[in-house]
Amino acid sequence: MNIRTRLAVGAGLQTILVVLVVAALQFLALRSFLAVAEYERLEMLVPQLEQELAAQPPQAGQPPLEIQGLPRNVDVRVLQGERIVAQTPNFPPVPKSLPRGYRPSAGHDVLVATVNLNGQAATAQLASDVLGVVNPLRAYLRALMITAPAAALLVSLLSFWWAGRLLKPLSRLEAAAEQVGREGNLRARLPGAGRRDEVGRLAGVLQTSFGQLAEVRERETDFTRAAAHDLRSPLTALKTRLQGALGGPRSAAELQDEIQEALADVERMQRLTEHLLLLARGTQHIHAVPLDLAQVAGEVVDRTREQLPDVRLEFESQGNTTVWGDTALLTHLIENLIDNGVRHGQGTDMEVCVTEQGDQVSLVVQDSGPGVPPETLGRLTEAFYQLDTARSGEGHGLGLAIAHQIAGVHGSQLHFRNRQPSGLQVAVALPRSSPHLPGRTLDTPSDSFEH
Ligand SMILES: Nc1ncnc2c1ncn2[C@@H]1O[C@H](COP(=O)(O)OP(=O)(O)OP(=O)(O)O)[C@@H](O)[C@H]1O
Ligand SMILES: [Mg+2]
Repeated sequence: MNIRTRLAVGAGLQTILVVLVVAALQFLALRSFLAVAEYERLEMLVPQLEQELAAQPPQAGQPPLEIQGLPRNVDVRVLQGERIVAQTPNFPPVPKSLPRGYRPSAGHDVLVATVNLNGQAATAQLASDVLGVVNPLRAYLRALMITAPAAALLVSLLSFWWAGRLLKPLSRLEAAAEQVGREGNLRARLPGAGRRDEVGRLAGVLQTSFGQLAEVRERETDFTRAAAHDLRSPLTALKTRLQGALGGPRSAAELQDEIQEALADVERMQRLTEHLLLLARGTQHIHAVPLDLAQVAGEVVDRTREQLPDVRLEFESQGNTTVWGDTALLTHLIENLIDNGVRHGQGTDMEVCVTEQGDQVSLVVQDSGPGVPPETLGRLTEAFYQLDTARSGEGHGLGLAIAHQIAGVHGSQLHFRNRQPSGLQVAVALPRSSPHLPGRTLDTPSDSFEH
């Protein structure tokens, strides 16, 4: 059963309930009003009865008293003590000893009053069958049996019509959402989004959610496209190299060179896939421990010096540089920054500094290379972003995006600055302790990267 029908049926049932409750109250009130009216009517008959008794006083042994002018449904009995002085023929079996007043007895409403009989007090019992009360009540109930269902039906029909009107925007919204699902246009404008009611709010929420989904989808598409693009070039290079190597006779030394080059291509692809894996598996739990950031950075510096003896790389640390963090991730971050300095800053006078700064530990990696145009400073952490000139280089534009993400899960972020007279400085200030860190997870790429 749809909401519209349910509303209509519900309204009908509620109407019946309300009508019955109101009718029950009215019934009780009506019954008591009718009883009072009946009592007043019987009381008004008492003087008439006294007149009749005075006009034809009852004698002992005479037939039952005929009292003129009494309403048809009223019977009378006159008693003196326990003795019946007079009574109408159909007087009901009401007890003689009934106290004065008005009460129901023997299926009748009975008024017991004192009357004057030949100068003596006598007791008159006036009994009215309850029809005077029952008949109007019966009529009322009969009317109710017609009006209650009629009212319920009318309310149901009105509710059905009204619910249809109210739910129309919802149907339009449903149709629009269905169309979005069919056509995949998540940016389509949904009807009712500007309304100030529940439907408007629902449309607004859907619109926002669809927009967010659209963003995620676009980012994922961009990401996949860029990843595919960046994997294609080293693969093509490798293929060309291997084809060249097979193409003609080669000396052992030449083959050695070709293999070295091919290995470099494979390493490049390996690095790219590692980057991509880190991004794709971004929701892994990080393993945070107290670590000495200076020691971690020092190890990376040592490795770099070992591998690239020509690079001029200074290392400096000062103070207590212990932070809570994930050793592998922070190592990766420092490696990426140093790698950038080597490749993009041409390894010129590089410096790595780890210093204590209050409740933070600051890591600065800087070089004296060309730096970057100021307008690109804000874009360096975008995934796959590379300066045009660097595009031909070996990287994929993912290193800083990942470093930024790693800084983010450690409660920090990367800051870039061009140095004077030249060079790029990258700084990150890690909070010394972050109580939430061990339970925190890496954000997914779609949450953290802009394109
Ligand atoms: N020290 C630097 N000096 C000058 N330009 C830099 C420096 N570091 C980064 N950049 C610029 O920022 C871009 C993005 O750097 P990022 O580390 O994200 O990518 P990448 O180094 O090109 O490739 P990847 O790190 O994925 O191998 C680089 O392509 C480069 O143009
Ligand atoms: Mg890089």
